[in-house]
Amino acid sequence: MSYFSYQNGVLYAEHVSLAEIARRFGTPTYIYSKAALLDNFAAYDNACKKHNRDSNSALVCYSVKSNSNLAVLNLLGKQGSGFDIVSGGELLRVLAAGGDPHKVIFSGVGKTREEMRLALSHDILCFNVESIPELQRLNEVAKELGKRAPVSLRVNPNVDAKTHPYISTGLKENKFGVAYEDALPTYRTAASLPHIDVAGIDCHIGSQLLDDAPLLEALDKVIELIDRLAAENIVIHHLDIGGGIGITYADEQPVAVGDYLSRLFAKVDAWRAAKYQGAPIKVLFEPGRSIVGNAGILLTEVQYLKHGESKNFAVVDAAMNDLMRPAMYEAWHGVQAVVQHPASSQIYDVVGPVCESGDWLARSRELAIEPGDLLAIMSAGAYGMTMASNYNTRGRAEEVMVDGDRVYSIRKREAAADLFALESIPQFKE
Ligand code: LLP
Repeated sequence: MSYFSYQNGVLYAEHVSLAEIARRFGTPTYIYSKAALLDNFAAYDNACKKHNRDSNSALVCYSVKSNSNLAVLNLLGKQGSGFDIVSGGELLRVLAAGGDPHKVIFSGVGKTREEMRLALSHDILCFNVESIPELQRLNEVAKELGKRAPVSLRVNPNVDAKTHPYISTGLKENKFGVAYEDALPTYRTAASLPHIDVAGIDCHIGSQLLDDAPLLEALDKVIELIDRLAAENIVIHHLDIGGGIGITYADEQPVAVGDYLSRLFAKVDAWRAAKYQGAPIKVLFEPGRSIVGNAGILLTEVQYLKHGESKNFAVVDAAMNDLMRPAMYEAWHGVQAVVQHPASSQIYDVVGPVCESGDWLARSRELAIEPGDLLAIMSAGAYGMTMASNYNTRGRAEEVMVDGDRVYSIRKREAAADLFALESIPQFKE
């Protein structure tokens, strides 16, 4: 089901017209559909239930970096979601949103001592550790606090996720994780540290994967390691396969979440039955994009139509600072006119007002538009607002959530004064 659809020639989010949202909240504005978020989360949750997993045997840890608005975190937390975080800031967001710290896993290659202290003091579920120096630092910090830190090592299964190189993370040349060949000795080190508890194993091979074959291949590699660790009496209690399932931006056909999870659980169950008398192992997922990506759009207003020598430009009031993905990855996002009218169509590049040639949101799109028209930049719920910046002293967009026929502001538009509120002019000595 699409949560953004035309009704009498006007684009709606659930039961609210986007024109109405623009009138009330201005533009640019990120708009999220609550129903879409719930349905996308339910795809994971239902697949877990179908395979007889409760929250002790399977946990979805929503990847906060994809969309970290408190309202989104709160909604997912209430559905039982855990959270995958990559900074102390994200942990504080999860807590502010009422999320359960005991369902938090902490990923990332550069955790500071302060972040480790914060996470340990809230008894998070697990640290996804990416190097030996990080293990040693965590051991020291846990010792200071008189605690033991639960860890999982992020192993690099060296499978090709076949996605954009900037968002592929499971290959040898990436900065992420511990090389597959180094995993056993690194686990031995972890097991020998007095303030470290070996809890799990994790991997994340990349993002926007359309096929689950690389994920299942990574699972095989992880299973092999767990068996080798078991032979050394290093017991792994959970396996975390990361996030990565892609969404439809244009005409991609990503694997259905339910099908992927069915195949994954079938593999896990067969393996446990064959080697561990069926003793279960907890499975964790870290999805981001597949939960929020198509639950959000960016609403923008056409300011000017500029007819250049070789190109036509639709200059809109959203820019690369609002949605970085096109500039950064040449990502393709659908563009839809909010009100369809019969003006003659032309081919446009949709660009923002930022002073960079890379400031474009879409290229070569056929649009029937006039200045003042509204456009919806589609599939912008993931890595949209979270990657936004204040470049060109542009306040970040308003965010709203639609629930049926109601709209709630979930983040106010930033005013210019907010942007320099933390700055000061020094009183230099003469
Ligand atoms: N777990 C880890 C360790 C990750 O690094 C990521 C994403 C996820 C989970 C969530 O992956 P997802 O389910 O969303 O694919 N900014 C880029 C995407 C960067 C992904 C970073 N890691 C983009 O806009 O496409």
